[in-house]
Amino acid sequence: MAKNYYITTPIYYPSGKPHMGHAYSSIVADIFARFKRLEGFNVLFLTGTDEHGQKIEKEAKKNNKDPKIFCDELSDTFRSLTKTLNLTNDDFIRTTEKRHYKSVIEIWNKLVESGDIYLDKYSGWYSVSDEAFYDEDEIEESNGKHVSKSSGSLVEWVEEESYFFKLSVWQNKLIKYYEDNKNFILPNSRRNEVIKFVKKGLKDLSISRTSFSWGIPVPKNNKHVIYVWLDALTNYISALDYPDIENVKYKSFWPADVHIIGKDILRFHAVFWPAFLMAAKLPLPKRVFGHGWILSDDKKMSKSLGNILDPLEIIDKYGVDQLRYYLVKEVSLGNDGSISLENLKNCINNDLANNYGNLCQRVFSFIKKNCNNKIPKTNNFKETDTKLINNIKDNIPKLIDLINKQNLNEYIKTVVNFSFEANKYFNDSEPWLFKQKNPERMNTILNTIVEQIKNISILLNPIIPIATRKVLNTINISDKDISIETIRKENIIDNDKELKNLDILFKKIENDN
Ligand code: MSP
Repeated sequence: MAKNYYITTPIYYPSGKPHMGHAYSSIVADIFARFKRLEGFNVLFLTGTDEHGQKIEKEAKKNNKDPKIFCDELSDTFRSLTKTLNLTNDDFIRTTEKRHYKSVIEIWNKLVESGDIYLDKYSGWYSVSDEAFYDEDEIEESNGKHVSKSSGSLVEWVEEESYFFKLSVWQNKLIKYYEDNKNFILPNSRRNEVIKFVKKGLKDLSISRTSFSWGIPVPKNNKHVIYVWLDALTNYISALDYPDIENVKYKSFWPADVHIIGKDILRFHAVFWPAFLMAAKLPLPKRVFGHGWILSDDKKMSKSLGNILDPLEIIDKYGVDQLRYYLVKEVSLGNDGSISLENLKNCINNDLANNYGNLCQRVFSFIKKNCNNKIPKTNNFKETDTKLINNIKDNIPKLIDLINKQNLNEYIKTVVNFSFEANKYFNDSEPWLFKQKNPERMNTILNTIVEQIKNISILLNPIIPIATRKVLNTINISDKDISIETIRKENIIDNDKELKNLDILFKKIENDN
């Protein structure tokens, strides 16, 4: 029976056009989803849009639109981005859907039932842009305005009747959970951050608002709408048809294997979400992975700095595989990382065009020219050949482990290294010298190198799916054989069929392009 794997992205605010940060979270999650499928897992990969709350209501007003109509339009741009980024999401949830509404109401009722909700008054700071409540020590003055220290966004003083969630009661249970589940929050730097925050003491959390109406009304008191974060976090189980916990989807996929999120929303996922779930007596997700920020030329990307790299423009100009590869190769997943057009071009040229792309093109054209376009048969492997082949096979457990720890950078480094080694092997073995004097040796070299190309392509497939599929298709590997199992197997290469044509995989980018 296939094992199940459930992975999610944050659901994005459809308050503006999608940008590189959104693309990054989604691409990272897609790579893990694709890898787990290659490994044979039955994967559920969820993304979507977070459509309620004051921020969206304000944005809709600014555009003179009804919030639902506004969301319909912008949510569509996020949905179409999933196609442009070549994501393999199985579902796209919108928090304005019925299935979600039902699920949020149920969670609310569960929290009432467990005695974790009470009515009081909130007075404090609120950032509409972050949809977050901040303590006095979390804000500062900047140019005469009050802003959040962590995000820099404007905060306003709010005083209104509000329902509260007894977050303080869950403090010790949360700490115990973090201690017992060392890998619940990754990377470790984020885990430490969260533990420090929780140990400082948790205040009860305001979970309803009365000063606007764009949200899910609180049951039995529709003067209030449910706080957008309680609403949004629930999406992860709404998509599994919660509250029907007997259904196959929920049973197969909850608890989630990993929520991929940006570090800016760590507190919501690693503190509030587990506390809500504990109170509702539901299992907690197995992991929350908080990645860093994408910076542009060392600065946070922002409209006012004019340093925004638009994912759509880049894809249009350079290709989607190219953007996917660059983002995850260049930015170390747990940390902030700078990106720039200059580096993007270098990365495409060096890693994709000159290394992997060039290897495939050279080998295939050599076979076309010298072997009737068929991968030659052989049995006479030397130690250098088997060593090369076994190196990838032997590293499979390590690679799986890296993915399971979301250590994507080490994974890519290892695979790219296989590609460098394969190139070196091809150069050093000089098959062209053997055509006349020892064709058997030439055949063995070609056989070995194609085996490497196959395995490297499978391992790169989650990252650059389009190019690797073309390569695998060229050597007659069908889609169903693109799997980790294929790397383990012997004799997968078809020696009787001709190689299919392969057009240029990655165009080299000239400097003025
Ligand atoms: N709607 C909430 C999330 C709810 S999840 C239950 C939200 N949405 S958002 O549109 O602001 O998107 C936030 C996510 O986009 C971040 O957590 C992060 O994953 C990603 N990024 C947005 N800008 C980013 C960068 N500059 N760099 C990397 N990722 C960032 O918060």
